[in-house]
Formats: sequence, C-alpha cells, structure tokens
Amino acid sequence: MSEHYSAKVLDHVHNPRNVGSIEDANVVVQAGDPSCGDALVFFIKIEKDIIHDIKFLIKGCGAAIATSSMATELVMGKHLDEVFTINDQKIAAALDGLPEEKMHCSNMAASALHAAVQQYRSTVAGESPQIEYPTFPNA
Ligand code: FES
Repeated sequence: MSEHYSAKVLDHVHNPRNVGSIEDANVVVQAGDPSCGDALVFFIKIEKDIIHDIKFLIKGCGAAIATSSMATELVMGKHLDEVFTINDQKIAAALDGLPEEKMHCSNMAASALHAAVQQYRSTVAGESPQIEYPTFPNA
C-alpha cells in the first residue's frame, strides 16, 4: 500500500486525528459508500456557525480513514460557509493526492460535511439530534 499513498495519507491512516464521539454534539451525520459498504459518522459541536469540535467513527479502508481524519482538521474552527466549500478534491489535495481508484473514498467525508451544514441550518441550533448509527470497530 505504501507505494500508492503519499506520506501524509499514511500518517493519517496510522495516526488518525479526532477519532471518537462527542456526547453533546449538536449535529450527527452519517455517510456511506454503497460500492464498498463502508460507513462514516461525524459528531460535531457547532456554535454560532463555527465548528468548535468534530470527531468521527468509521468502518472503511485506509483512504477513507485518512480522508475523514484530514476532513476534521480542515474544518476545525471554521465557519460553516467555508465548510460548505470543502469537497473531495480539496480533501485529497490536502493529503498530497490519492490514487485515482481511491478518489471515491474521499466522497464520504465531503458529503457528510455538506450534510452536517444542511442539518445544522435546518434544525434549531443546539438541539441534539436523535440518530441511530451502526456499531463501529473503533468505537
Ligand atoms: Fe470503501 Fe474506500 S473502499 S471507502
């Protein structure tokens, strides 16, 4: 695997940032990739349109772990308008690229972030959503 991945990807695969859950998250979103059956949940604490904290749980390949980890770093402390501009290409670029066959893995993180912004903006800020999510191996 190491010949195909950048040093940054490997770093995030082996030392993923912000893994876990947030008990008082006011946005919880999940995304899945139907082509491989992998799944991701982001727990996010948003106040006044700013992401104050974000953690994730994942069942997925190395590229999915690395892109989710990088996504949390890209949005930490950011305004939701900026979060909405982050897409799979930006996440992959922040990791110094991904092999073409792994680009689809970065879609999970990007689509979950966009869903998080939409969820926050469509609900009363501070309200905790009741979402059932799958069990993850790193929970
Ligand atoms: Fe499933 Fe990468 S192969 S997300």
